[in-house]
Amino acid sequence: MRQTMGRFATGVAVITTFADDAPHGMTVNSLTSVSLDPPLLLVCLDHGARSAEAVVAAGRFVVNVLSKRQQAVALRFAERGGDHFAGLELEYGEHAVPVVPNALAHLECDVDRVVEAGDHVIVLGAVLDVCAREGDPLGFYGGRFSDVVQHGAEPVHWFF
Ligand SMILES: Cc1cc2nc3c(=O)[nH]c(=O)nc-3n(C[C@H](O)[C@H](O)[C@H](O)COP(=O)(O)O)c2cc1C
Repeated sequence: MRQTMGRFATGVAVITTFADDAPHGMTVNSLTSVSLDPPLLLVCLDHGARSAEAVVAAGRFVVNVLSKRQQAVALRFAERGGDHFAGLELEYGEHAVPVVPNALAHLECDVDRVVEAGDHVIVLGAVLDVCAREGDPLGFYGGRFSDVVQHGAEPVHWFF
């Protein structure tokens, strides 16, 4: 399944939160937009991930969408058991959750619902605040980081 789902290209994001007097964060590509009204998104977090527990305990988290210059950040926050924040200058968002500087987008969320799903939990986030900046995203395809190439200048109208 992992190999086959690898054919579905995604972006890369880091989920950050603050629990037990410490920042927590992990790299994810399971990010999905769920609803616009009300604004909801979801991420699927491994039961074994320290940050999954921290997100549920805090009840609040930030989705930091990475730019193509942030592959090192993606690797840092994917290191199992590592100190993901060592030597990193932190900024805090409006809701006292650390944010990854220079990310392409930030979405601050309240945990809306947590759904058990096999070896992962699905965390539904109610989006409180958003901010986006111009730049190129970091992609992930076939188990590798990749560039995302846009086709043509026109947005797809039925969506926007
Ligand atoms: C590109 C990429 C995408 C990932 N996506 C997810 C994901 O969606 N869900 C997940 O639980 N782990 C995902 N991981 C693995 C976690 O980032 C990794 O296990 C992390 O260390 C867990 O955080 P922890 O150190 O707080 O336990 C991904 C890793 C990479 C490199």
